[in-house]
Amino acid sequence: MPGLTDHCQTELATRDATMARRQLRTPDAALVSFASNDYLGLCHHPQVIAAAQEALVEGAGAGASRLVSGNHAYYAPLEAALATHKGKEAALVFGSGYLANLGTITALMGKGDLILADKLAHACILDGAQLSGATLKRFRHNDLAHAEALLSEHRAQYRHCLIVTEHIFSMDGDRAPLVELKTLSAQHASWLMVDDAHGLLDAPPIAADIWMGTLSKSLGAYGGYVAAAQPVIDLLTTSARPFIFSTGLPPSVCAAAHAALRIAVCEPERRERALAHAQRVRYALGLPVAHSTIVPLILGSSEAALAAAAALRDAGLEVVAIRPPTVPPNTARLRLTLTAGHTDTDIDRLLTVLKQEKLAA
Ligand SMILES: Cc1ncc(COP(=O)(O)O)c(C=O)c1O
Repeated sequence: MPGLTDHCQTELATRDATMARRQLRTPDAALVSFASNDYLGLCHHPQVIAAAQEALVEGAGAGASRLVSGNHAYYAPLEAALATHKGKEAALVFGSGYLANLGTITALMGKGDLILADKLAHACILDGAQLSGATLKRFRHNDLAHAEALLSEHRAQYRHCLIVTEHIFSMDGDRAPLVELKTLSAQHASWLMVDDAHGLLDAPPIAADIWMGTLSKSLGAYGGYVAAAQPVIDLLTTSARPFIFSTGLPPSVCAAAHAALRIAVCEPERRERALAHAQRVRYALGLPVAHSTIVPLILGSSEAALAAAAALRDAGLEVVAIRPPTVPPNTARLRLTLTAGHTDTDIDRLLTVLKQEKLAA
């Protein structure tokens, strides 16, 4: 058996050979960033920062898990506001969006159950499904006919069935057909769970059984949540393992997320500005209309995506190259994110550089 260091070096060399090694990326204030998920520009909002600062007097951390003594006073109003926002009876905040998906799916589903997930569903949905012990089947991306065929063939052999999709897909920025999926779930006696991690905090388009969301993207803070009927939240509170066996979020983080939610709801123009930027970039790239602030520029090979990201960086723009296995083989891309914090001049500059690099017409 090789030593641990040798083993890791061999593994890293394999990743280097296929350009699949991931690197830490520190933000560079000298660059205009098109690589942030702070879609509504709330991460640095003075009211959000002030709310976090005020809550810091309660301590830097929660001190314990929420079921022990970490359920500080900043949780209840945040959860009530999230539940109202999603049109649900109750909400539960988790340590992150990843943990919200993992904890919810593993608590609700088990052996003898069926989970049907979109082919492009996020890693934490798939990890949750695998960890739950349920049977996982994946339908082709946004392909209702395929989802229906899988349900017709398999649903009857299982006890419970959960259909899971993202609302806005993280790497493509397109939208799931939620109305149709809701109908399908009703027709096949299934529950529907929607991951709204990349949503812009507009009104929910359907009444999903479970809405999952994150505090870390449009809300500019950190953490994740699930909103559902009260008994669902009560069951998760007593049985979702990442919730039970992990320390609560710091008061400052909950206070920041709550302040951000208030601003997001009161200032819809933030969402509109971010979407208008995305629309401009999509138009320049010949892509379909924007339903989100995520714009994929698919280049194929990892080499091409990395080279394009480096060229944009040299031109003063921060853009991230996303490569397999995060995206399917031969679909390496630049993932451009437009935010309410961008100015029209930022977008002009992005479009000029994309043209110079022959990445846009
Ligand atoms: C679709 C989706 N769900 C969940 C998550 C996890 O959220 P968080 O970053 O809050 O852990 C992400 C993160 O990128 C995501 O893209």
